[in-house]
Amino acid sequence: MTASALSLPPLPALKIGEYTIPVPIIQGGMGVRVSANRLASAVANEGGVGIIATVALSLASKYYKKGKDYYQANIKALIDELQLSQEASPSGIIGTNCMVAIRDFEAMVRTSVEHGAHMIISGAGLPLRLPEFAASRPSTALVPIVSSLRAARLLAQRWRKLYHRLPDAILFEDPNTAGGHLGIRRNQMFSEEFSSDQVVPQLAEWSRTEYGDEIPIITAGGIWDRRDIDHALSLGAKGVQMASRFLCTYECDADERYKQAFIDAKASDVVIIDSPAGLPGRALNTAFTRTLFQGGRVASKCFATCLEACTCREAKEAFCIAEALHRAQQGDMEHGLIFTGTNGVRHTHMSHVRDIFRELMTGEA
Ligand SMILES: Cc1cc2nc3c(=O)[nH]c(=O)nc-3n(C[C@H](O)[C@H](O)[C@H](O)COP(=O)(O)O)c2cc1C
Repeated sequence: MTASALSLPPLPALKIGEYTIPVPIIQGGMGVRVSANRLASAVANEGGVGIIATVALSLASKYYKKGKDYYQANIKALIDELQLSQEASPSGIIGTNCMVAIRDFEAMVRTSVEHGAHMIISGAGLPLRLPEFAASRPSTALVPIVSSLRAARLLAQRWRKLYHRLPDAILFEDPNTAGGHLGIRRNQMFSEEFSSDQVVPQLAEWSRTEYGDEIPIITAGGIWDRRDIDHALSLGAKGVQMASRFLCTYECDADERYKQAFIDAKASDVVIIDSPAGLPGRALNTAFTRTLFQGGRVASKCFATCLEACTCREAKEAFCIAEALHRAQQGDMEHGLIFTGTNGVRHTHMSHVRDIFRELMTGEA
């Protein structure tokens, strides 16, 4: 072991529900199919939590045929992804990311639970009924994503009253830095009030005083290196969720051209778009976003009514987000939308998940 390895104290294990996670790092769910079985199992094999993003999983699967059975195909594709990741990481901790804003939210949760997901992370709306949909396997840890103490408090009270259970952890996502859909209005973005520096200590204090520290707080957004993790833990978080850091890994489930777009990006290539889901989203500046900003037409045909509320379907505005994210994942850089956190543009080369974990744990690059 080198001197630098010796100089960093070990990261504390993270306890969520009945699971003890050796390294307190959850890999953030990344749809569409950016985090599927390969990335999730690689992270789980390193002692973190691997997360499969369930949104529109079928689009790049053998199960989906245009115009047919999108929802059934999503279920079959999710079962495949869970099985493959469990085979590749039999003793790892693997969960799913299920978004409330998606029409098949309930089916994705039920399928995850029935097929052995250890954890469900759920955001893009408050997952008020998550315990009901996950009831068949109480050991599955339920982790809602919130953007404020108010939301955490409301959810915990509601779950306790209706389902006699508490969230197994609360995940705070910082809209100032996180990738993908942001749980906040555009005019509230970049406000200190919603930053992890402000909200994580509030959540930690709330968990301590109201629930005897029973609900660990996880923070997401802008975590890149060991310093960021140590800072998050010093704020009172018990663990972190990281997504953008894993984009340029060999194990990430997207096309090589998708990963190269991050390596080629400049520091200024991060933009905010208005998603048809009615939320702002953080994305990479590409041909797609440039066309969008100029008012041009981009993938705009609704093919599966996948979102609960969607301006593409209802007002023929905007674009089909599932199609746009799917195209990017397949390597269509001209017509695809690439989500990113502010850190996505820091990638300079490809890495293995194992090397990232080694760096985070020992400080060795
Ligand atoms: C490419 C990409 C896709 C994402 N897709 C989802 C998703 O499907 N569901 C979700 O809840 N969060 C999604 N996110 C958010 C991440 O899970 C994560 O919480 C956030 O990006 C953390 O910030 P970081 O990227 O700075 O680590 C996505 C993020 C990225 C970069």
